Amino acid sequence: MPALGLGVLQSTGDEAVAAVTTALRAGYRLIDTAAAYGNEREVGRGLRESGVPREDVFLTTKLWMTDYGFDSALRAFDTSAAKLGVDQVDLYLLHWPWPADRARTVSAYRAAERLLADGRVRAIGVANSSEDDLRALAAETDVVPAVNQIELHPNFQQPGLVAADREAGIVTQAWSPIGGVYGWAGENGAVPPLRNEVIAEIAAAHGKTPAQVILRWHLQQGRSAIPKSVTPARIVENLDVFDFALTDGDLHAIAALDTGQRGAVDPAIVTPEVIDLTIDPA
Ligand SMILES: NC(=O)c1ccc[n+]([C@@H]2O[C@H](COP(=O)([O-])OP(=O)(O)OC[C@H]3O[C@@H](n4cnc5c(N)ncnc54)[C@H](OP(=O)(O)O)[C@@H]3O)[C@@H](O)[C@H]2O)c1
Repeated sequence: MPALGLGVLQSTGDEAVAAVTTALRAGYRLIDTAAAYGNEREVGRGLRESGVPREDVFLTTKLWMTDYGFDSALRAFDTSAAKLGVDQVDLYLLHWPWPADRARTVSAYRAAERLLADGRVRAIGVANSSEDDLRALAAETDVVPAVNQIELHPNFQQPGLVAADREAGIVTQAWSPIGGVYGWAGENGAVPPLRNEVIAEIAAAHGKTPAQVILRWHLQQGRSAIPKSVTPARIVENLDVFDFALTDGDLHAIAALDTGQRGAVDPAIVTPEVIDLTIDPA
């Protein structure tokens, strides 16, 4: 899996298609979508219109909670693959742990294991999972998740969970890696990382932008990150992070920005009623 990819939450219609083609032509090789984003068709179109061969692109999509359960998860995967227009998905994630219904979550993960065994997906994993969620899943399933995709940005760094992922051999992938959550969930008194003065100073010292500094910070610590943008210049900017290195002092200064406060909903309370979404069935 490439470490850096394009996220497409809230990218819709032709703008989503264009974001994917722009990113792939700029050199991205990882695209992160989900059934719940309602844009799998557009992602598939962007993939085809980019001219980049399918086998060169790492494509992630996610199973929504209303499809948890074994048979329903298999059906939902077929729907996602059909919308994307692909035979195989590179990474299939359970979108939320749904701790209040572990049995259904485990059945969904069992279905993902079946898809893996059948070669319909190349890797499986989870999102938004805590250490408890990971332990509960491990107790009843066979395949260690390849990835745990979690909210992670300078304001909310989750060091304990990152260490637990590493211990279990799971790659931590940061969602809202540059703090985009404050744009769609509200700022709640937080200063978004892109407006943080410490990050601005580090960026100025390296001749880079705040977004580039934050993305570099993720990569330098062995995490994957999937920044979203529909703005062509930003899509290019966010990939241009391989020509500089943050110093130990920079890394310590960013570590000190952790507030311990998440920007989005606590996964521990998430159920299909808490995040009420309808997935287009076809
Ligand atoms: N598993 C989950 O539950 C979960 C939850 C949330 C997100 N995700 C995934 O993670 C991806 C990223 O998270 P996110 O979309 O919440 O937040 P993000 O990537 O941290 O931030 C996206 C926001 O930042 C802006 N932006 C992008 N590059 C910029 C730059 N260089 N300078 C200034 N602003 C910039 C974007 O605006 P423009 O688009 O207007 O340029 C957008 O408003 C999502 O797209 C999705 O794929 C997963």
